Amino acid sequence: MTDLKIKIENLYKVFGANPQSMLKHIEQGISKKDMLEKHGHVLALNAINIDIPARGISVIMGLSGSGKSTLIRHINRLIEPTSGKVIIDGENILSMKKKQLLDFRRYKASMVFQNFGLHVHRTVAENAAYGLIIQGKSKNEAKKLSQKWIERVGLGGFEDHYPSQLSGGMQQRVGLARALATDAEILLMDEAFSALDPLIRTDMQDVLLDLQEELHKTIVFITHDLDEALRLGDRIAILRDGAVIQQGNPQDIIMQPANDYIADFIQDINRGRVLRIKTLMTKGKTVAGPNLVQHRTLEDALTEVASSENKACNVTDNKGEVLGSITLDQIISGLVRVKLESNTETRYH
Ligand SMILES: Nc1ncnc2c1ncn2[C@@H]1O[C@H](COP(=O)(O)OP(=O)(O)OP(=O)(O)O)[C@@H](O)[C@H]1O
Ligand SMILES: [Mg+2]
Repeated sequence: MTDLKIKIENLYKVFGANPQSMLKHIEQGISKKDMLEKHGHVLALNAINIDIPARGISVIMGLSGSGKSTLIRHINRLIEPTSGKVIIDGENILSMKKKQLLDFRRYKASMVFQNFGLHVHRTVAENAAYGLIIQGKSKNEAKKLSQKWIERVGLGGFEDHYPSQLSGGMQQRVGLARALATDAEILLMDEAFSALDPLIRTDMQDVLLDLQEELHKTIVFITHDLDEALRLGDRIAILRDGAVIQQGNPQDIIMQPANDYIADFIQDINRGRVLRIKTLMTKGKTVAGPNLVQHRTLEDALTEVASSENKACNVTDNKGEVLGSITLDQIISGLVRVKLESNTETRYH
């Protein structure tokens, strides 16, 4: 069982002059468009229910304006909901008193921002130590504790540089070091890598995955980029017009998109590099053939399966225990895109 870290329960956020007066329209199922046109209010979050497990990367994905930033800012209560709950480790943060909330932000949840959020007149060392200073640590102690993280993100030697002397990728490494130095269990990352060039962005994704393997933080990662979501997410929730339209493990979303909007969204991904053999295997059935470990991608397994005598391989867990098997035909059908079925969902373009 994975422990539940953050539970977002029936959360609504309306922006406008009188948000509470909109609740009755929400009960009647008003759309974001109608609320804006008829009542001049923005329905930014609509009936959000998301369970975020501890020690994993939960991605929230959606196009611009879908409500991602509004949602993540509810997690540390930078935004108050119009209605609903945000429960962290069993406690509703909306019932927290001011001091408790400040402590929560200082010790338990750190944010990493799209535009890095560094102090331009402070050095790398000072920026990285900042969260610890806020926690009340002495300058010396803060410096000592944060030095480890400066080195861990690959910035050893740059301690005395100023942000303007660093590339974007290096600046975000400082942002990451600052967030990690506080020892917070939760990292809230709002489009943290979106401002970076593609290659640097992939580098930073590697840095994060690498750190996560060691640190097992509870990470909420926001992105509008599907490749990034698939690369990082243990779970993905997809937002559209303030509502969650599908959530689950990335493999399931690709195999069973909930509607045409999502099917459209995922249709150009490289399925061979994203889908894993465990997702497509026949459970329980074994074959006379070689064993392949479950997390191998279809692309990666293809040659071995194709050249095996029976055109099939067993799929094992990480310890070598056989879970099932996969055939060449299954791999090939997994590589084929899902067909878009026209259904009652309106297409988004
Ligand atoms: N302070 C505000 N007042 C009024 N409307 C707002 C406010 N903040 C956000 N909105 C609206 O709420 C909706 C969600 O905005 P939000 O910034 O959360 O989207 P996002 O998914 O983070 O977008 P982006 O990818 O552009 O950052 C949008 O329609 C936006 O215009
Ligand atoms: Mg945003």
